[in-house]
Amino acid sequence: MTDERENLPPTTGVELKRGPLRVGDRVQLTDPRGRLSTITLEEGGEFHTHRGFLRHDDLIGSPEGIAVTNTYGIEYLAFRPLLSDYVLSMPRGAAIVYPKDAGQIVAQADIFPGARVIESGVGSGGLTLALLNAVGDGGYVHSIERREDFAAIARGNVDNYYGAPHPAWRLSVGDLADVLPESDSPGSADRVVLDMLAPWENLEVAADALAPGGVLIAYVATTTQLSRLAEAVRDSGRYSEPYAWETMQRGWHLEGLAVRPQHRMMGHTGFLLTTRRVADGTVVPERKRRPAKGSYPATAEDWTEDDLGERVPTDRKLRRTRRAVGQPRPDQQTPHN
Ligand SMILES: C[S@@+](CC[C@H](N)C(=O)[O-])C[C@H]1O[C@@H](n2cnc3c(N)ncnc32)[C@H](O)[C@@H]1O
Repeated sequence: MTDERENLPPTTGVELKRGPLRVGDRVQLTDPRGRLSTITLEEGGEFHTHRGFLRHDDLIGSPEGIAVTNTYGIEYLAFRPLLSDYVLSMPRGAAIVYPKDAGQIVAQADIFPGARVIESGVGSGGLTLALLNAVGDGGYVHSIERREDFAAIARGNVDNYYGAPHPAWRLSVGDLADVLPESDSPGSADRVVLDMLAPWENLEVAADALAPGGVLIAYVATTTQLSRLAEAVRDSGRYSEPYAWETMQRGWHLEGLAVRPQHRMMGHTGFLLTTRRVADGTVVPERKRRPAKGSYPATAEDWTEDDLGERVPTDRKLRRTRRAVGQPRPDQQTPHN
């Protein structure tokens, strides 16, 4: 029986992921202490540390997952880096979206094979790789970055990852608000992904590009951005009620019976917000749940504990608490003898 898939052209980049290690391949070496080093294999090349060196020729032609020993007797385990290893070690201009958040974006915004996705900004291209992997060769990712230098770094990182230009990728330099209306027809995008300082400034241009039902997903680093974005989404009237969340990833120490969370973790990366594009002419139904009293003060000076979701104790509760700690109000105190 023949496998019909054998006759299909190979997916971009797949050949770099399989088979024996070849000249030009990136290889991640793990030393006995778990420290990682990434090398690119060259004929006659050497990987030097202060304790000996390793010959690239000992790796070329071998399968992944072998252990090689350097001139000092130190053993290294050799694998090709995974996408997450590549993203974390690639040269950066701007901060990257971490793999844990990139995974959330792909899953929660439903970035599907063949999808048409607009991404802005591009930074170092970390998220671009996850988007391209998800849409595949038959999809479309248009990445728009206003800084030419960042776009050049992203281009290098993406091309190096796939070993060739990706057929689904288009990279434009310019401001999203200027580029998008000129480049993509209205209603043609399935998904818009925003990772920039002020995503609320681009909600209208994103809504113009999105098809009805399309998903907007934004990644922001602070609560102040999140609040402003959520209110702008509601005010726009072209999106459904936004949903926001964050994820935390905690590694575990695995040693015999000492199985416990690791002491250190990445405490904060960012918040994600998703919303759907409603059809033109649709009036977004009013929310049933009324906002908490005072959620929308006129100015920051008008803020109350209520606005910040803090519980204000009742006078009765305070009187009881005062009594409990032996500090009743002066008018309730019994005179000391
Ligand atoms: C944090 S970086 C993006 C990182 C990227 N997602 C990654 O994983 O590597 C934010 C980028 O947005 C770009 N940017 C900000 N506002 C923009 C706009 N209105 N149009 C295009 N790019 C913008 C910035 O220049 C910066 O490179």
